Amino acid sequence: MERDNAVTTYAEDIIREMREDDLIDILEIENRSFISPWMRRTFEETIESPISTNSVIEINSEILGYIMLYSVEDEAHIMNLAVHPDYRGRGYASKLITRTVSCFVGKNVSEFFLEVREGNINAQRLYTKFGFKGIGKRKRYYTETNEDALLMKLSLHQ
Ligand SMILES: CC(C)(COP(=O)(O)OP(=O)(O)OC[C@H]1O[C@@H](n2cnc3c(N)ncnc32)[C@H](O)[C@@H]1OP(=O)(O)O)[C@@H](O)C(=O)NCCC(=O)NCCS
Repeated sequence: MERDNAVTTYAEDIIREMREDDLIDILEIENRSFISPWMRRTFEETIESPISTNSVIEINSEILGYIMLYSVEDEAHIMNLAVHPDYRGRGYASKLITRTVSCFVGKNVSEFFLEVREGNINAQRLYTKFGFKGIGKRKRYYTETNEDALLMKLSLHQ
């Protein structure tokens, strides 16, 4: 009997800097992820900002998710994070956070902040897994639904 010597190779995901020509794919993910999605202009302004760090995770040139942060001195603020609905639950957000946090550690950033909807339990679980802790609430932060935001913080040097 002949042996099947075919080798199946699986593409590796890569994390790289976000570019403006990614925005069509990113806006599709954004619109499918949020009640009040960012507009294209907000993405463009954030990419152009000298204090932002913006990364995408992709496989075979297909964008699966992205993360965007602002950082000043030793603090960074996660402004946006989403994974394509078809690719959730596979660890891609975790990879984005792990890589981003480790990059910032090299730049002496020691505190990360973010706001998350009180009702967004999946995202809160994700952040808690990485050591983020709830440190307060921003009342009616999400104006379109009047929902409160939970303010979360990760301190690398406790
Ligand atoms: C939140 C989000 C980014 C998670 O992305 P993801 O790639 O699916 O996350 P991961 O696969 O890395 O999951 C990591 C952890 O998050 C939590 N989590 C993510 N999705 C979850 C779900 N559907 N149910 C329960 N926990 C979930 C779990 O703790 C999980 O760890 P585990 O797999 O060990 O249980 C994604 O669901 C998303 O894009 N949601 C819409 C946008 C959004 O809410 N962004 C965050 C705004 S603050």
